[in-house]
Amino acid sequence: MFARMLAVGVVALGLVGGTAAAQETVKIGLILPMTGPFASTGRQIDGAVKLWMQQNGTTVAGKKIEVILKDDGGTADTTRRLAQELVVNDKVAILAGFGLTPLALATVPVATQAKVPMVVMAAATSMITEQSPFVVRGGFTLPQVTSPLANWAWQAGIKKVVTLVTDFGPGIDAETTFKTRFVALGGQVPAELRVPLKNPDFAPFLQRVRDANPDAVFVFVPSGVGAIFMKQFAERGLDKSGIRLIGTGDVTDDDILNDMGDVALGVITSFHYSAAHDSAANKAYVAAYRKLNGKRPNFMSVGGYDGMRLIYKALEATKGNTNGEALVNAMKGQSFESPRGPVTIDAATRDPVQNVYMRKVERVGGELWNVEFATQPAVRDPSRK
Ligand code: PHB
Repeated sequence: MFARMLAVGVVALGLVGGTAAAQETVKIGLILPMTGPFASTGRQIDGAVKLWMQQNGTTVAGKKIEVILKDDGGTADTTRRLAQELVVNDKVAILAGFGLTPLALATVPVATQAKVPMVVMAAATSMITEQSPFVVRGGFTLPQVTSPLANWAWQAGIKKVVTLVTDFGPGIDAETTFKTRFVALGGQVPAELRVPLKNPDFAPFLQRVRDANPDAVFVFVPSGVGAIFMKQFAERGLDKSGIRLIGTGDVTDDDILNDMGDVALGVITSFHYSAAHDSAANKAYVAAYRKLNGKRPNFMSVGGYDGMRLIYKALEATKGNTNGEALVNAMKGQSFESPRGPVTIDAATRDPVQNVYMRKVERVGGELWNVEFATQPAVRDPSRK
């Protein structure tokens, strides 16, 4: 009898010990496009996650943080499968990353069903956060950064604008937001052009821009694609046509801006982050990022860095409790100084409220930078009001 009790006791102890040991580690499943046409987004975010952990350690609320990085190659079916495996096999407490809108949308059902928070570091179509109460966004939305540009363009005397966007969620958001605002102010948008996401050839679209002869062309292309766009813009002589180039800051992405050459000079964009942002926090960030990763950080990196902050601070607030609802609640309303400036996660929408800056590409110290010249403070996504 005593022996049996002892045996049961030992088994029970063993179980308790096992559970306790398993709880010591909090796993974060980080899914990014590390290969394929959007690999620059994956590399930027991965570098930022590594920097955050280098600076802030790998223990939070007494628990060890383990990041499991998976490469989805930019394919939505793969993202969803990897998310499922991370939740079911690896038992991750949090999913993070998501380099493109379709990749985020493919994962939403997995996160919702498993009640696992999904921290979107890159994808920027407005409606993503509306798809599940478990989605929290660390980056930005296209309507948020586009609206101030429409205001600027009108004030700068621009009357007629052709829009040219990549044909998927964020591009449609950018096109709709720009047109709605600019037309409301009295502007004209005679043509709205949409370029395919896969293997884009901008030449025929640029010809149509030329034919419409607007004061400016408004452009959205996803991070990484700006280099091809600018090359074709210059090849077709549009930089010398008198048609101004304006856009969201995705087109003059800090990851590739410095290699674009003179064609980028004078391009006006609106955005939430520039590597040239003039603050002590950003200077420290850019220097540390460069030291660790050997390149200039872009806005994707900042979405990843601040996404890690949301996760760390949430775990601190829950004292290490990894219940999905508790973690999401602890992310809502977080307010902090980011390398981009002040950020608050709106508790109702789970989207960041942040400054949007007007920038102009200038050569400073031999390198091309998005130099900020005006700030619209604490901008919300206008489509979510
Ligand atoms: C998106 O897929 O939501 C996306 C990708 C790249 C960007 C912006 C948005 O630069």
